[in-house]
Amino acid sequence: MKLNLTSDALEALSALPGLLLPWYRKNARSMPWRETPKPYYTWISEIMLQQTRVEAATSYFLRFVEALPSIPTLASVPDEDLMKLWEGLGYYSRARNLKKAAEILCRDYGGELPADHSALLALPGIGSYTAGAIASIAFGLPYPAVDGNVLRVVSRVAECRADIGDNAVKKEWEKVISVILPEKDVGDFNQSLMELGALVCQPNGSPRCLYCPLGKVCIGFHNRTAEELPVKAPKKERRVEQLTVFLLVCDGRAALSKRGERGLLAGLWELPNCLGSVSSERVIGYFAEKGIGAELTPAGTAKHSFTHVEWRMEGLLIQLDRPLEFPGLHWAAKEELEARYPLPSAFKKYRKFLENML
Ligand code: ADE
Repeated sequence: MKLNLTSDALEALSALPGLLLPWYRKNARSMPWRETPKPYYTWISEIMLQQTRVEAATSYFLRFVEALPSIPTLASVPDEDLMKLWEGLGYYSRARNLKKAAEILCRDYGGELPADHSALLALPGIGSYTAGAIASIAFGLPYPAVDGNVLRVVSRVAECRADIGDNAVKKEWEKVISVILPEKDVGDFNQSLMELGALVCQPNGSPRCLYCPLGKVCIGFHNRTAEELPVKAPKKERRVEQLTVFLLVCDGRAALSKRGERGLLAGLWELPNCLGSVSSERVIGYFAEKGIGAELTPAGTAKHSFTHVEWRMEGLLIQLDRPLEFPGLHWAAKEELEARYPLPSAFKKYRKFLENML
């Protein structure tokens, strides 16, 4: 047992439903997926909230369910439209998994989410947290939904120093929380833990312990250790990649290319780029060989962090006197760039640069 919970810690944890449910009823924020409870809305919102704060996710959510109001509409959306709806949220594989799961739901479950935890867990993109959130919030089934907010709250309440970045620790917390779930209102209880983590038992800086409904039982508060908790071992450093990004412009159009089908940002549109730093002479030489005149202007540097890699980009605006023909290269006009081609956030700075240029 990695958690090594004391009997006092277990007693404190078992008091959570009685203290948190009344607090949640008074303090829960209004969110569109809470106001109109539907399993589909719970699913979409939970996937969005894994990577985005509630305030930012709300407008994406409303736009998404307006465009794709049901599981069958999600299953049949063209990939390009789906990527456009997800543009800016990042982690595009999550959107792709939503569509794959919707296809399975249409084939095997009549286009609805099943009220069955194992069946949910078997769907693409649905892990233990999301399966627990949908099962409990949408169907009232007794499963925990343990995310970073919840781990922080319970580690503090129990004054537990187990590393919450360790998956075995998370699994043990899931078991402990399964035991303390209330008989009724499991979904509200799970959400009350998340809500407390977001509004009161906050990370970074001081938790707002004086406003916390768990003050009476929280061992971390009592022993003044809450601020040091939870323990999370530092992550491995990201690999750094240097990239040159080519902002190719000709006749009011900009060039886009498509990424390969595997790996980072798989299958998405991007601005043509290559690894490493490329000199102006090499670029001019390349176009001269093809008989194309090119005028080069530096377009500044940009940085973007993904989970495991950091891109350090150098932009190069290249104005051509006739378009380069190259397999996989698409020339898009300004309106198309805005409306039709989703570009990953990593290229945001250069996209703006291009939109101002065209
Ligand atoms: N974060 C993720 N899901 C949430 C939910 N249902 N309520 C509050 N915060 C959340």
